[in-house]
Amino acid sequence: MRRKLAAGNWKMNGSSEALAELSELAGHHPAPSVDILICPPAPLIHRAAQAISGSSVAIGGQDCHAQSAGAHTGDVSAAMLKDAGATAVIVGHSERRVGHDERNEDVRAKARAAIENGLIAIICLGESLAQREAANTLDIIGGQLSGSVPDLVTGENLVIAYEPIWAIGTGKVPTLAQIGEVHDFIRARLERRFGAGVGRSVRLLYGGSVKPDNASEIFAVPNVDGALVGGASLKAADFSPIISALEAA
Ligand code: 13P
Repeated sequence: MRRKLAAGNWKMNGSSEALAELSELAGHHPAPSVDILICPPAPLIHRAAQAISGSSVAIGGQDCHAQSAGAHTGDVSAAMLKDAGATAVIVGHSERRVGHDERNEDVRAKARAAIENGLIAIICLGESLAQREAANTLDIIGGQLSGSVPDLVTGENLVIAYEPIWAIGTGKVPTLAQIGEVHDFIRARLERRFGAGVGRSVRLLYGGSVKPDNASEIFAVPNVDGALVGGASLKAADFSPIISALEAA
C-alpha cells in the first residue's frame, strides 16, 4: 500500500509571515491519513521545520546541489537541507530544467545526493506543450525517467511528480485520461527497471494547476498517489481542502 502524499511547492514565495500558514495547516490536520509536505524557499526551511515540529506536516527543499559542500556560491546541499530540518527535496522541477539548464544527468546527481543524505527525492518530469502536440509525451517522459532517476531508489526514498509544463500555473489541466496514461506509463517503467516490489511502492504525484475544485477527480485516477501543488499550497485555506480530497480518495 502506498501512503498518499499531498506536497506543496511554495516556489519563490513567502516570508516569515507565511509561517503562520503552516501552523494553521497543521491545526486543520492533526492526524491525517496521508503524508503532508510543504517545500518553502530555502531561507524559511529551518524556521518552518521548527514551527511545525511534532505536527503532521513535514518540510522539504525545492532544489539541492549534487555535492555535499564546497565552492558553489549560492547553492544549498542536501546535507544542509537535512540539517535545517527538511525530510525531502524536489529535484528537476521544470522551472530549474528550463530556467537553469538542468539536464537529466544533473537531476540524477542531485537525486542521488538527496537520497544519500537521508532525504526523499521528489523527481519532477513533464513535457512542454510543443512536445505534447507532436505526440512525443511518452518519449519525453521515458527519457527523463531513465535519465533522472538514480539506481539506489526504493519506495521510501523516491517520489515521482508528473508535471506537464503547460499545466503549471496556467489553470490548464490535462484530461484525466491523459494523466492516467502518463502515470500508468511511469509505473510500468519503474516496475520494469526496479522490479515489481520497488516499482509498485514508489509514489506518483500529479502537478499542474491542482486546485480544491479539481483535486477529487484527479485523485480518482489510478496510479495518482497525490499531488505536487504550487499556487494552491500557499494558503492553508486552499491547501487544506486538497488534503481532505486526498484523504477521501
Ligand atoms: P501550480 O499548482 O501553481 O500550477 O504549480 C505546480 C507546480 O509547479 C508544483 O511544483
